Amino acid sequence: MGHRITLSEDGMHQKTLAPPCLFDHSDQLAFLGEAHSLDEKLTFLHHYLRESVASVDRMAVALYDPATDILKTYAHSSLGDNPLPLYEARLAQSRTLSEIVARRQPRIINDIEQVTATQTHTQRIQRQGYGSSYTLPIYRNGTFLGFLFFNSYRKHAFGEKVLHLLDLVGHLLALFIIDHLTTARNLVASVRTISTLAQHRDPETGGHLERMSHYSRLIARTIAPQFGLDDLAVEHIFLFSPLHDIGKIAIPDSILCKPAKLTDEEFSVMKRHPEEGAKMIDAILEHFDLLKMPQADLLRNIALYHHEAMNGEGYPHGLRGDAIPVEARIAAVADVFDALTSVRPYKHAWSNDEAFALLARLAGDRLDYDCVMALIEQRTEVEQIQDRFAEDRLG
Ligand code: C2E
Ligand code: SIN
Ligand code: SIN
Ligand code: FE
Ligand code: FE
Repeated sequence: MGHRITLSEDGMHQKTLAPPCLFDHSDQLAFLGEAHSLDEKLTFLHHYLRESVASVDRMAVALYDPATDILKTYAHSSLGDNPLPLYEARLAQSRTLSEIVARRQPRIINDIEQVTATQTHTQRIQRQGYGSSYTLPIYRNGTFLGFLFFNSYRKHAFGEKVLHLLDLVGHLLALFIIDHLTTARNLVASVRTISTLAQHRDPETGGHLERMSHYSRLIARTIAPQFGLDDLAVEHIFLFSPLHDIGKIAIPDSILCKPAKLTDEEFSVMKRHPEEGAKMIDAILEHFDLLKMPQADLLRNIALYHHEAMNGEGYPHGLRGDAIPVEARIAAVADVFDALTSVRPYKHAWSNDEAFALLARLAGDRLDYDCVMALIEQRTEVEQIQDRFAEDRLG
């Protein structure tokens, strides 16, 4: 990354000299064309930018979910120091960020100290010692997607010349984010569409899928520091966990919908659903040429290993403890909790107290202890999720 963009006095123009030989120039951004994670690309762009604008100390991406009005960090680069991981808030609660969206214009804060911080986000930025910020809203076909945040420890770091460069880098980054998001969302949509087209019923209702997603995210976010999960991993666990039982479409109705306890023989058929799910997911990844997608393993592991048990007595492989990928341990806790508290053809809905009591008994033995505690200790959040996605809890 030896290349330097020189900002001359009259703007962005620099003297250009033709390279002496045909292949003398090496593409300084070639890294961006390789298979790297979004975080790696963001960090790369941050280093590249710093060669011209040394005062950019943090770059972060926050995505907006219009269904919930939630804004959450998606990727960030602070070159080593990591001041603001795993941030999530309602957009409506941030007056200043809402104003950016309403005006459809970026915002420059030259001196963050002078801003009266009513929102946790700005307070966190202030506590971290940042002096100035540039916040660029990002759009796709006119639809608001989220924000790019640029922060500097210096005050007044963002003059016009610098901003021209930040806009360019910002839009490049926005394209990577859009590509990344679209890939993950298309994958989820494909899996669900295919299960419908195959004329199998999708065994899971909308409410179950939403609750699964949110319980999984709640657990993932809580254990993230301890298990080294970054924001992207948390978000993908949120997206993919509702697909854990996709293999059930290969199980006959007579078993899946049986309004009574399964016989041993029926249950052994039912136990094929994790491997059926993994096979389906592999086929879809291959058809859509997504096998190299960085998060493909996460999706496959959730489908394949969500019935493994910590003590090795689960299925299909009888994996034990840490050998079970953490995303599968998270999905397992979310799944069992939601299965217990929902009506099934073969059982009534348990109360939260009853379900938590069983989870506590299974913790450490069959279920991951930390994942269970993350859920039990956040009962208020659990109940909020149940209230929000309640439509099918009564049958
Ligand atoms: P599911 O309904 O999504 O349940 C997921 C997991 O939640 C179950 O995995 C089990 O660990 C837990 N769970 C669900 N209901 C109960 C319950 O009433 N008591 C207890 N102690 N745990 C419960 P499991 O056992 O491996 O079952 C996998 C899938 O097999 C279930 O997914 C469900 O679709 C089916 N299944 C299991 N038992 C029966 C049954 O007796 N009748 C019918 N029709 N289906 C069953
Ligand atoms: C805010 O105004 O709440 C966000 C400040 C920032 O991240 O730059
Ligand atoms: C979560 O998503 O982790 C809980 C908050 C919510 O979405 O209700
Ligand atoms: Fe399952
Ligand atoms: Fe399930």
